[in-house]
Amino acid sequence: MLKEKINNVSTEFGEDILNAKNLKQIEDIRIKYLSRNGLVAKLFDELKNVSKEDKPSLGKSLNTLRNEITGKFNSVKSKLESSSKENDNKFDLSLPGTAKIIGSKHLLTQTLDEIKSIFKGMGFSVFEGPELESDYNNFEALNFPADHPARDMQDTYFINQDFVLRTHTSPVQIRVMNKYKPPVRAIMPGRVYRNEAVSSRSYCMFHQVEGLYVDTDVTFAELKGTLVSFARQFYGEDLNYRFRPSFFPFTEPSAEMDITCYLCHGKGCKVCKQTGWLEVLGCGMVDPNVFDYVNYDSDKYTGYAFGMGIERTAMLKYGITDIRVFFENDLRFLKQF
Ligand code: PHE
Repeated sequence: MLKEKINNVSTEFGEDILNAKNLKQIEDIRIKYLSRNGLVAKLFDELKNVSKEDKPSLGKSLNTLRNEITGKFNSVKSKLESSSKENDNKFDLSLPGTAKIIGSKHLLTQTLDEIKSIFKGMGFSVFEGPELESDYNNFEALNFPADHPARDMQDTYFINQDFVLRTHTSPVQIRVMNKYKPPVRAIMPGRVYRNEAVSSRSYCMFHQVEGLYVDTDVTFAELKGTLVSFARQFYGEDLNYRFRPSFFPFTEPSAEMDITCYLCHGKGCKVCKQTGWLEVLGCGMVDPNVFDYVNYDSDKYTGYAFGMGIERTAMLKYGITDIRVFFENDLRFLKQF
């Protein structure tokens, strides 16, 4: 009788375990067969009632049954567990993705990168200097003597008698020439400060790129050639330009370079104040006095220098009419570039 029951339980378990498809069903099977009051335990209870002779063989069959059920049960259970974990980790590919917000370079950085790459292509290296500069490098050695009215063109923030927030990147000229003997061919980008009333055209802080080339026999023709080549590469091949005489204490002669207005193409409009021209940079031949300050032999060497505002350059190229947008971090502006 017990022998028969053992066979039945074995068959029944075989069917049940075959149909177990999830962890809930496997738990039901555990309760039904392997728990304290489960079918296997009940069969062991019945062992008490069988005859002495039958006990050993039935006991053996029962042990086998219990081992088989436990073994099979555990293997099916662990299979179901691992496949249910896989299900938890599965991606739902139908869901919309989380968009990654990828930043981009600020327009000023992009503009500077472009300027740098054009000048590097013409053999210029890149140097940088500090924003907090000595009065000597920013003015004195650039031929702006103390109390000279030329200083008024570049009113700035004095830290004390001897140090200022630099008003232009020209002091890096002095630094480069103090460190290297000619030939020197470099551009010097950086942030500069001026005590300006903030408006759509001027800001108290902006960026410049300065250029310097010193060697024997450097001529104004080379200055023009280099700047026109730059302007054509940067603003476009069909560009019209002109050089106007100007004044800077550290260059002689000095000039300003204009290009045709991007908006009216020379006809005259509000942007170019009806002149048809827009000023893009200042330039000139390095004043021999400056060479004296850096101990270059001014009989032997000549050089040219030029400087442009990066904001202004970007404004001209992209038709931006207010300098303040560069510093307001308004994403609606920044995302356009
Ligand atoms: N440093 C001048 C300025 O800021 C620009 C300049 C540089 C002019 C070099 C001539 C030569 O106005």
